[in-house]
Amino acid sequence: MKTHKIAILSGDGIGPEITAEAVKILRVLEARNNIQFELEHALFGAIAYFETGSSFPEETIAICDRADVILKGPIGLSHEDSKKIPIDEQPERGALLPMRRRYDTYANFRPVYLPHSLAHFSPLRSEIIGDGIDFIIIRELVGGLYFGKKESGVDETGRRYVHETLEYNEDQIRRVLEISFQLAQKRKKKLHNVHKSNVLQSSVLWNEILEEVRLNYEDVEVEYILVDAAATYLCLEPTRFDVMVMENMFGDILSDQCGGILGSLGLMPSACVGPKKSYYEPSHGSAPSIAGQCIANPYSMLGSVAMMLEMSFGMVKEARNLWQAMQAVFSAGFTTPDLARRGEREKKISTSDFGDKVAEELNALPPS
Ligand code: IPM
Ligand code: MN
Repeated sequence: MKTHKIAILSGDGIGPEITAEAVKILRVLEARNNIQFELEHALFGAIAYFETGSSFPEETIAICDRADVILKGPIGLSHEDSKKIPIDEQPERGALLPMRRRYDTYANFRPVYLPHSLAHFSPLRSEIIGDGIDFIIIRELVGGLYFGKKESGVDETGRRYVHETLEYNEDQIRRVLEISFQLAQKRKKKLHNVHKSNVLQSSVLWNEILEEVRLNYEDVEVEYILVDAAATYLCLEPTRFDVMVMENMFGDILSDQCGGILGSLGLMPSACVGPKKSYYEPSHGSAPSIAGQCIANPYSMLGSVAMMLEMSFGMVKEARNLWQAMQAVFSAGFTTPDLARRGEREKKISTSDFGDKVAEELNALPPS
């Protein structure tokens, strides 16, 4: 029997609630497939800071190091509560970015998927949604402004200043473009390259590398689109996109915009792929205002499990089954209160009931 070691970092806020549903589904998957998941739980984020004094403690690092993959819930506190933690230990700077750096997870896959069963969540009109939205953002995840040199101080005139550097070298750009072309080849052979070369030197280099890389992928049609124009077209005509690739901050912002297009960031799972290790996480935050009430939808967490099945374990068919099971629960009119949009027409159920229903639907499908 195949065994996979998974580090489970449930994180902060709604993290533990939605991660519990992911664990539930992992157990269902074990029972349906000839497979074993060895789960090791570890503290990560604000909860880790309050218990150990570090938001990414040594013990967690050791557990992540020995795991095959990492499944991670959202982290972070409200703006007010964040102030209880010294800046360098705040979960974003103290845990998440160091984890991305440690495992060099350079390619962040963020699918933007709105089939019919979810269309009513979207604020977009049905003529814009058409037959459904289905594209994917690939965000470079370990370079650019977020990881560049930073400096702040007071200049000779007495004014406070800050320098923050958008840094990339050609290898960093090449590898994320390679993986994007490879995905485009498997999908519709269309790649949107999101850039800002009319202003940024980093985009000029990015585009130069793209022209080199594309020579190996002649069957893929490339379209250049400026990042500001991309923001507009994501709303006006989201169905024109299939695979989009962009640098770190562009991807951070546009992928949240895509949460708006779908109707909720709760519908945005993601995969963060590195050369040796990948981790899977929802694209959204820890939603402290609704934590502990069992009303958060686990879709983004379960979708992240589906991505893990496909991308780390090669269980393509079972991943599809899991997506289908989740959609079946929505199609049957169920939703959690955080996503509810249609008033009385929706049957509102808790986070754990949602997970149970997904498990039921999954078990109704033949295993892979
Ligand atoms: C994301 C998040 C993170 C990011 C934060 C929490 C540091 O917003 O994964 O998109 O900016 O990358
Ligand atoms: Mn973000």
